[in-house]
Amino acid sequence: MFDSPAHPPVAQSVVTADPGASYRAHREEIDAAVRCVLERGNYILGQEVSAFESEFAAFLQVGEAVGVGSGTDALHLALRAVGVGPGDAVLTVAHTAVATVAAIDQAGAVPVLVEVDPATFTIDPGALEHAIRRHQASLRFKAVVPVHLYGRPAHMPEVVRIAERHGLFVIEDCAQAHGATIAGRAVGGWGHLSAFSFYPTKNLGACGDGGAVAGNHPRLLERVRSLRQYGWRQRFQSERPGFNSRLDELQAAILRVKLKHLDRENERRRSLAGRYDQLLKGTAWHTPIIAPPMQSVYHQYVIRGQERDGLRRFLSERGVDSGVHYPVPIHLQPGYRQKVIVAGSLQRTEALCREILSLPMHPYLTDDQIAHVARAIVEFDCQRNQQQGAA
Ligand SMILES: Cc1ncc(COP(=O)(O)O)c(C=O)c1O
Repeated sequence: MFDSPAHPPVAQSVVTADPGASYRAHREEIDAAVRCVLERGNYILGQEVSAFESEFAAFLQVGEAVGVGSGTDALHLALRAVGVGPGDAVLTVAHTAVATVAAIDQAGAVPVLVEVDPATFTIDPGALEHAIRRHQASLRFKAVVPVHLYGRPAHMPEVVRIAERHGLFVIEDCAQAHGATIAGRAVGGWGHLSAFSFYPTKNLGACGDGGAVAGNHPRLLERVRSLRQYGWRQRFQSERPGFNSRLDELQAAILRVKLKHLDRENERRRSLAGRYDQLLKGTAWHTPIIAPPMQSVYHQYVIRGQERDGLRRFLSERGVDSGVHYPVPIHLQPGYRQKVIVAGSLQRTEALCREILSLPMHPYLTDDQIAHVARAIVEFDCQRNQQQGAA
């Protein structure tokens, strides 16, 4: 905690994510890799994509990875690869990026939304089991999509046990969790298939769109390879209807450079999160709870409390950017309201949306910037306490 909460505003701006800083940190390597691809003249599904797929699979300690066009496509193609289609139902959460539910809808299935665990904000295994039992007579459940939100692993041992009991496929949404582990084992290798996004702000981010499907099931991954390119078995010969969703050589070359630095950058995120934990102790805000054997990679550092919007404005006046991931749960969004089934109460999900705030978090933040953010939060609390005392 700080000695004095009354600090003059510091003239600095602290952003929530900074993909440009990541480029600048590895500029020489990235420039060289990009130049090499441009000179080589092969821009789609060449040696950079193959090498990245092998290196990313090794990083995750899984059998294989397949590069695709985005994280949303990775989810969509993974769902198709396990046979999800019209008439099927897929379980997931409402507290996630719209992309998770959009992919289920794209595959033709009905998204069934269940409650999150109040401590981890990831799928609540009890609510999952309950939803399956309650609706199994009327819905044809085919898969479950746990989301490793904010870099924090979902309760995979329990989710996998429930899925096995009910004969469901597990597709992990790992868009925010490259390198997160449970008991030392990386997320992405727990389910049948897993989906990663390389959107520029992700822990492993490209300089454009990109994604990958990973896992340990060669037959399913072979299907993803075929689906990403018109359902081809070999060039110009489709064995199934397919799509065009390919990771390109330039993005793969950039990702290969960044992958080499990912462990160190994730470690830096963890260290910054530890600093926030320390500095925010004793404030009115709940900080993230990550209990062993889970290890987070802090894609976001999300605090929770009352008067979130007031704090957000206060931070903004002090040059501190913040975010809300996510402000409206999927079942209340006009685009998806009619397309989803809500299984049981989503009260916790709805409360979260009003109370959560994502603080600046990326590996190129300085300790001073973290201190500036924390100091502003302490100052906000003090002013609020004074106002309440005066009232
Ligand atoms: C949890 C989650 N799932 C899926 C996606 C989709 O990834 P993309 O933006 O690469 O399509 C994202 C990224 O926005 C995400 O955060």
